[in-house]
Amino acid sequence: MSDTAPIEHPRWLTGGDFTEAEEPVRLFAAWFAEAARAEPINPDAMTLATIGADGSPNARMVLLKGFDERGFVFYTNLDSVKGHELAAVPKAALTFYWKSLQRQVRVRGSVEPVAAEEADAYFATRARMAQIGAWASKQSAALESRLAFEKAVARYTAKFAIGAVPRPPHWSGYRVVPYEIEFWHERPFRLHDRITFTRAAPTAPWSKSRLYP
Ligand SMILES: Cc1cc2nc3c(=O)[nH]c(=O)nc-3n(C[C@H](O)[C@H](O)[C@H](O)COP(=O)(O)O)c2cc1C
Repeated sequence: MSDTAPIEHPRWLTGGDFTEAEEPVRLFAAWFAEAARAEPINPDAMTLATIGADGSPNARMVLLKGFDERGFVFYTNLDSVKGHELAAVPKAALTFYWKSLQRQVRVRGSVEPVAAEEADAYFATRARMAQIGAWASKQSAALESRLAFEKAVARYTAKFAIGAVPRPPHWSGYRVVPYEIEFWHERPFRLHDRITFTRAAPTAPWSKSRLYP
């Protein structure tokens, strides 16, 4: 007989109504785990929306590389368009859509750089060719030809022929520290379920409300 108490899963996590969840990070973790099983390609893909220095919006896909109570982490080239936009206005919105589950999650938050050690640790897990690509790509700058990029890849492949590839100084991660996380689940006849969690500060408790679809 086991002497450890059985793990108590809340009802919303075991097939019950997700709108009963009282905290968003555990709910996100449950949905993300289901998405990982349901979506054959890139369940970790999310739209990242940023604001340009002139106030105009911009959006593109990136991959979620970590999340916890502190926020949602992605990696990129700091000299890219998004990198410059986030340097000017450190705020972002993320949107996940898992088609197979008919679920959407929206996140809004402030953005901060991840610690150098955290970025180093993630960079070390990337395939060697992806590490070399991070050195060779001047992400978002004009590229005269595919050949020019291939030459840059060849140059860095030769440069880092031996030993570990270090993380480029222009490549790191950002953490979106959420103040709002919304969960949406499709229901018949567009009578969808929608709940949103908001908090006044990263240390403040979450408060939940249900929204009209
Ligand atoms: C599914 C998918 C995942 C992507 N993941 C990333 C990523 O994690 N980091 C990244 O810098 N670009 C990623 N990209 C490329 C970006 O969408 C974008 O083209 C690139 O980052 C340049 O964006 P920017 O010019 O706005 O900075 C991804 C694209 C797709 C379609």
